Amino acid sequence: MQVISTKDQFRRSLDGARLAGHTVGLVPTMGALHAGHISLIDAARRDCDVVALTIFVNPLQFAAGEDLSAYPRPLERDLELAEAAGVSVVFTPTDAEMYPKPTATSVHVDGLTALMEGAARPSHFDGVTTVVTKLFNLAGPCRAYFGEKDFQQLAVVTRMAADLDQPVEVIACPIVRESDGLALSSRNIYLSAEDRAAAVVLSRSLEHGAEMILGGERDARVVAAKLSEFVGEEPRAQLEYAEVVDAASLVPIGDLRSGTTVRLIMTVRFGTTRLLDNRGVVVP
Ligand code: PAF
Repeated sequence: MQVISTKDQFRRSLDGARLAGHTVGLVPTMGALHAGHISLIDAARRDCDVVALTIFVNPLQFAAGEDLSAYPRPLERDLELAEAAGVSVVFTPTDAEMYPKPTATSVHVDGLTALMEGAARPSHFDGVTTVVTKLFNLAGPCRAYFGEKDFQQLAVVTRMAADLDQPVEVIACPIVRESDGLALSSRNIYLSAEDRAAAVVLSRSLEHGAEMILGGERDARVVAAKLSEFVGEEPRAQLEYAEVVDAASLVPIGDLRSGTTVRLIMTVRFGTTRLLDNRGVVVP
């Protein structure tokens, strides 16, 4: 496994792979790898000849007061996990390598970024789309693997790649969960034992909301209100938002029409730790 820290070497490595006739699968991460990331690597390995993993805690997507400095950076362990998972190339640049000058250019996706995480963290998605564009530019033509856990991010990046004709096919990968239903996230390690136990409320609420729709409820506002009520019953949890949105436009919907694919999306805080989760439902 090659471990590369300069943009130039990364670009040359993947250009070389393509010249040799290999297809490239890109897995962008911020490190602190867990089974969710490994599932992205596995998907890339199934589809592509060469898997490139990027590990970069992108300062642009953190606002002042967020967890940038505390964000876990277990690089040695990440490299071991990456090698065991069959990654060929790891790109782990420093901040100065990625941003040698303060960036004067930013990539912004309109509409899809307006609500939910975009409203809660106003500069977040511009930071994500800017760094992902840089990574796509460096990696060149490839397939790029993103988890459905960050469903809004997945939608935003997919739209960006299409709008900007980036030579990248964005591949969506399903959420990986703990046995009790908690979606895997690098931020789960921040949870105290009590909060970890209580965090199961996210997946349970989503399950409950999905069952309401599958059982005949046709008013999305009633479902969204029920999600809030359900989370409200867990004293350790503080709901930031719970929405039932159209899965393509991410616009909150009112009537649940038969055949529509919707996404139940929520963010819940336990102390200072924000957990995101979502679930897809096709309205019967
Ligand atoms: O999902 C993440 O880990 C990050 O937002 C990403 C896509 C690697 C960009 O920094």
